[in-house]
Amino acid sequence: MDLNTPDPALDPAVEPDAATRAAADAFARHPAEPPELALSVRRLRVDLSKGFGRRWAGDAFRTQYFNALSMSFPLGEQFFIDSVKAGVLKLPASEQPKWDAVIRGFVGQEATHRFLHAQFNDELARQGLVNRWEGWAARRIEMSKDWDVRHHVAITAAYEHFTAVLAKVVLTRRPWLEGAEPELALLWRWHAVEESEHKTVAIDLYRAMGGSERRRVGWFLWAGFLFVVESTAQTLINLHHAGELWKPRTWWQALRWTFGPGGTVTSTFWPLLRYLKPGFHPDDLETPAQAAAWIRENRDAYRIVGEA
Ligand SMILES: [Fe+2]
Ligand SMILES: [Fe+2]
Repeated sequence: MDLNTPDPALDPAVEPDAATRAAADAFARHPAEPPELALSVRRLRVDLSKGFGRRWAGDAFRTQYFNALSMSFPLGEQFFIDSVKAGVLKLPASEQPKWDAVIRGFVGQEATHRFLHAQFNDELARQGLVNRWEGWAARRIEMSKDWDVRHHVAITAAYEHFTAVLAKVVLTRRPWLEGAEPELALLWRWHAVEESEHKTVAIDLYRAMGGSERRRVGWFLWAGFLFVVESTAQTLINLHHAGELWKPRTWWQALRWTFGPGGTVTSTFWPLLRYLKPGFHPDDLETPAQAAAWIRENRDAYRIVGEA
């Protein structure tokens, strides 16, 4: 992707192309305003310091897939936080106050996620697993640090679509956490609920910054490619360190979990691709009723920050 190409959506001297005209239509349907969300920051009452099982999710492959995802969270979510905070500062000063509350909620939720997943990852390190994904991501973040902030917000929006789709299947597809240790199922569902809640923040901000559709889709394709390669590689590395990689049972679990009914590919492929549609907005994907139900039914499992 050529980072020096002027963005037609921001530069009036450049003739808008078809993608940008499509974006203009999209803005008309989804005005570039902050989403009307009241995002609660919930401190989950879990104690990860006592550790958990080496097959906490029920089987070896699924456990190491979830573990791989967790390994990407602390650094990735810090990048999302930094990107939206920097993005808001690029809006006209008169616009910025409208975004205060929603950005505070987004940052609070992601900061709590990264805090608990860092504790989760400490236990994975104690179990002998090695986090390579973080190093790959750190190198990319370092390389991109001088780029236009719109790129960072577009990348954040792309990954937020991945997390929103994964969140939906975690909440709605029983096999994903079937047989998981209850405290860890609680942790992953809490994270899924909050990802569903704030799924529109980054993309709305991106559009408020005048980011083009072409770049939005381009970054999604790149982020999607990286996500598939890196989540697979980290899962295999985890299986290797867990001594499970060369067991036929693990490969059977991998096949079933990846391509079987309710598995990763079958559950996520089409919802993920909807991001490519011109003018896509995360609200086009229905938020599952299970999110609101989880909030209601697990009221004793968390404390809302700022509440007496
Ligand atoms: Fe998160
Ligand atoms: Fe998120």
